[in-house]
Amino acid sequence: MSTKDEVLRELEEHKGIPVSGGNLSKLLGLSRGAVWKAIESLRAEGYQIEAVTNTGYTLLPDNDLLSSEGILLHLKSNEVRREQLFPFKSLESTNQLAKKMAVEGAAHGTVILAEEQTAGRGRLGRSFYSPKGSGLYMSLILRPTGNASQALSVTTAASVAVCLALSQTYGIEAEIKWVNDIFYRGKKICGILAEAVSDFQTGTIEALVLGIGLNIHAPKEGFPKELEEIAGAVFHRGLEEDANRNQQKASRNELAAALIDRVLAIYQNLGSEEIQREYKNRCFILGKDIVVYRGNDEFPARAIDIDSEGGLIVVTQAGNQEVLRSGEISIRTVPHEKGQ
Ligand code: BTN
Repeated sequence: MSTKDEVLRELEEHKGIPVSGGNLSKLLGLSRGAVWKAIESLRAEGYQIEAVTNTGYTLLPDNDLLSSEGILLHLKSNEVRREQLFPFKSLESTNQLAKKMAVEGAAHGTVILAEEQTAGRGRLGRSFYSPKGSGLYMSLILRPTGNASQALSVTTAASVAVCLALSQTYGIEAEIKWVNDIFYRGKKICGILAEAVSDFQTGTIEALVLGIGLNIHAPKEGFPKELEEIAGAVFHRGLEEDANRNQQKASRNELAAALIDRVLAIYQNLGSEEIQREYKNRCFILGKDIVVYRGNDEFPARAIDIDSEGGLIVVTQAGNQEVLRSGEISIRTVPHEKGQ
């Protein structure tokens, strides 16, 4: 670990509380000059560190930069080591880099994070709006442990993991729109993109890349026009009645740690009844009328249940039962008329 990272770890651990330069140099076995140099380079990276003579250095509580030290401080899982956390200021897409790293042999539990993505990718070839300072964009590399059908249930399990991490970090209870869009207060606050890295020759799945994009705050300049209707955030800027105002203090590092912990724990338990129950409880489209889009085809149906592999069971207008598998399908709920 570099001197700068060691100093950052101490400051993160005492966020908002001054740590004296003397203590830092004694604790880390560094000269006062080396501590000062580390503080200066952290400041250059954007960390707000206050220095008060005879008191020490304080990492101001509003600092919300992603760092391996900040994540490790909150991480409970012992499956992830420091060397497996890769926070970046800016990337085209965390999924894109994670897939490359997976091909090159990155271990299970490797995590790529970015403050912003310039070419964030969504399902069905769409893009994912990923501006700086308002969201969390991360991809986890998972190595399959069992059979290929497990790969299917990763997608649904990931939605449950995100909901549980949000509940743990911010005390909010989010909902799921099949297959893996996370909604809060009627708007989409998180999208999940699971991509497989397969071996060309054998056709087996070598790794899964699980990309999670979460809007924590609505962007200052607002969402782009085309997203205004659908996109939301955990916290609405300026919304006074926000029930969880006090929990806005949780840092993105804390949320990232909770997401990593939840995903890795649920991954050990794929297909369990508990996860299926949690998924169904949070899936707000069950019992609702929906429109299914499959390629150029579109048809109305009623969503009735989720099968054990995460497929959506629907009944068409002709009364036929069908199971929808995620792939190329998207759905839209049909607003009920008044009185229905
Ligand atoms: C969707 O809603 O269509 C899925 C969006 C997934 C976005 C995340 S952000 C982190 C990771 N990197 C990407 O390029 N995409 C995923």
